[in-house]
Amino acid sequence: MNNTKIINEISKINEIKSMDLTQLMGDDHRNIMDHFARFFLLANNNNEEALHVLDSLCWELERHLLIEEKEVFLSYPIKGVKDQEMVDRLFKDHREILHMIESIKSKISQNIHVDCSELKTLWIDHEAFERDIFYPTLDTTLSDESKMGIYQKVNTLIEDRSKS
Ligand SMILES: [Fe+2]
Ligand SMILES: [Fe+2]
Repeated sequence: MNNTKIINEISKINEIKSMDLTQLMGDDHRNIMDHFARFFLLANNNNEEALHVLDSLCWELERHLLIEEKEVFLSYPIKGVKDQEMVDRLFKDHREILHMIESIKSKISQNIHVDCSELKTLWIDHEAFERDIFYPTLDTTLSDESKMGIYQKVNTLIEDRSKS
């Protein structure tokens, strides 16, 4: 192998190494966390502003969940019942999170006092599970080729979000 080929190989390896889904999706989680934090502070205190923040939270969150459901979860290499249960649980969490938000939104619109504790707990648990277990496992088990494919697709979708 000549020098140029070796350099190309090394840069390809480094490129794949830098494609870290844990980092990429963790950054997106932090963005959503910020919206959640603002919303939780406003709920029951300033409903008009809370609804406003909830709108942008929903926009960011729904996009994130859709990216995970369409581009990430189904790529997880299922090796047994435990893996399937884990992926099913993530889908179920998403449905519950969106359902809770809808119910809170409807109450706030009617100026009814809301309890956000269940939603807060579910989101924090879900985020921690993805950040500490799901994505690190995905990063280490996917083949370089599939990881590169998923990373590039997801990264493009996330970048498109920041443009809109
Ligand atoms: Fe998720
Ligand atoms: Fe996520």
